[in-house]
Amino acid sequence: MTLSEFDISGKVILITGCNGLLGRSLVEECLKNNAKVAGLDLEASHNMAFDKNENFIYVKCNIKNELEIRKALSKIKNQFKRFDVLINNAATKTENLKEFFRKFEDYSLDTWQEVMEVNLNSMFLMSKLVGKEFLNNKNGGSIIQISSIYGIVSPDFDIYKNSKYKKEIMSSPAVYSASKAGVIGLTKWLAGYWGKKKIKVNCIVPGGIEDSSNQDSTFTKNYNKKVPLGRLARAEEIIPAILFLSSDASSYITGQSLVIDGGYSIR
Ligand SMILES: NC(=O)c1ccc[n+]([C@@H]2O[C@H](COP(=O)([O-])OP(=O)(O)OC[C@H]3O[C@@H](n4cnc5c(N)ncnc54)[C@H](O)[C@@H]3O)[C@@H](O)[C@H]2O)c1
Repeated sequence: MTLSEFDISGKVILITGCNGLLGRSLVEECLKNNAKVAGLDLEASHNMAFDKNENFIYVKCNIKNELEIRKALSKIKNQFKRFDVLINNAATKTENLKEFFRKFEDYSLDTWQEVMEVNLNSMFLMSKLVGKEFLNNKNGGSIIQISSIYGIVSPDFDIYKNSKYKKEIMSSPAVYSASKAGVIGLTKWLAGYWGKKKIKVNCIVPGGIEDSSNQDSTFTKNYNKKVPLGRLARAEEIIPAILFLSSDASSYITGQSLVIDGGYSIR
């Protein structure tokens, strides 16, 4: 084989949550590798550097809403003619961080449902609608779902003692773990269901990603102590595995969870 199997040029890649920390990096790296990229997010594009790139289309879309997704897909298909890769990346900490971080005994069902709707239900909707399109492709397609180490291990709550995120006392709530574990279950189910249709479905399981404008130094110090590699990930370190799963080099990999956590989950 040659490295050309890793080539993603010309592939049409959909990225949800393209305005976020990982999403922005993903858009940049996919474009750098000559893919055609469609980014979906809630507000105006934060990918301004690429807004004039003919290989990039931004679509404002609330992925909780099936009708909005259908409209977005039709706009993208008009421009790029087909879809090859879906990266289900969007997640939410809700509008109200205090409620998102609230302790379990006082957690509201509304907040729980809001997080589940974005983190898990939207992955169902996106996979259903884009998967249907993949069924018409000669070469199928690839779905990549972004889970988290908190979908496979419990948070170490000591990390969050006196830690702040955007100046709010920080935690990692049960609903985040439940949604991210659900993503792994959905991935395996879809991989089994669509395997013979040439649709591969895999998960990326990142550890904590450095976000110095929002995470405080207490969090970073506590977190780093737990990681064999001694530090948080940089967003761009999560990208190569996603590009690999987008490419034909991963043609015999499906239903898997690729953990990228600096060794966090080994102990
Ligand atoms: N940041 C980390 O440390 C970390 C660690 C492990 C896993 N992850 C996972 O990686 C993925 C990306 O994380 P991130 O840190 O870039 O998050 P982020 O909060 O920076 O970005 C998420 C994006 O999703 C968008 N979004 C939220 N609700 C939406 C909706 N209804 N419709 C459309 N877009 C919506 C937001 O506007 C935002 O731009 C998430 O799935 C997250 O759970 C992140």
